[in-house]
Amino acid sequence: MRDELRRFLMEYQFAVDEMLTKVAILRDEFVYLHRHNPIEHVNSRVKSVDSLLNKAARRQLPVDLPSIREGITDIAGIRITCAFTSDAYRVLDSLTSQRDVQVLTIKDYIANPKPNGYRSLHAVVSVPVFLSTGPVDVTVELQLRTVAMDFWASAEHKIFYKFAGRVPAGLVDELAEAAAIAADLDRRMEELHIEVHGTTGPDDPDLEIDDAVLGYFLNNR
Ligand code: GTP
Ligand code: MG
Repeated sequence: MRDELRRFLMEYQFAVDEMLTKVAILRDEFVYLHRHNPIEHVNSRVKSVDSLLNKAARRQLPVDLPSIREGITDIAGIRITCAFTSDAYRVLDSLTSQRDVQVLTIKDYIANPKPNGYRSLHAVVSVPVFLSTGPVDVTVELQLRTVAMDFWASAEHKIFYKFAGRVPAGLVDELAEAAAIAADLDRRMEELHIEVHGTTGPDDPDLEIDDAVLGYFLNNR
């Protein structure tokens, strides 16, 4: 089973490689067109065999590859940290509108933050990977967030683990407040950026603005 799992996980690494190429192309083209790099950094990982088996056990999934493929959507993960909130929406829109990228789910925790204050855009997508035996569709989880959201999420993650998930109520409130401050900082930085460089929206009129992006701009004016 473990050997089979390692081979199975290779497919997820290939899917990550495919997506990372897409992200790099978007970034380079965007810099060329707009003289602005929307992506601060990109992290990716494929779950380890142990972490995958633990999650399958927690979810009480049958321990076979089809059940794991079906039931666990974050085996491959890519986190894209952007300069501005509008960049997060724009990068997600560019990735999900590519014809070989199939969107399975989108969760907008920026428009609808979690009760603890967590903000990010999540998308579960499927991309084809071409193996010698033929193509396989592989699921990848994308997380897009700003530097401020990322800063908050990594601090929250450490605190959550330190208290084994049972974070004292006072700290929960402080974390939510810190998240609101981070969101305010994002809003102010975006305003400054617009003041200095004009709109952070696409300056090419031929580029279409997606509803989510438009919604964000309208809600934050
Ligand atoms: P998982 O089973 O944990 O993957 O959660 P889910 O299927 O309910 O999906 P969700 O979109 O809520 O979260 C997926 C991932 O987002 C997590 O694995 C984390 O990486 C990240 N995430 C979600 N909520 C939080 C949070 O409150 N704090 C932090 N630091 N990260 C979070
Ligand atoms: Mg997860």
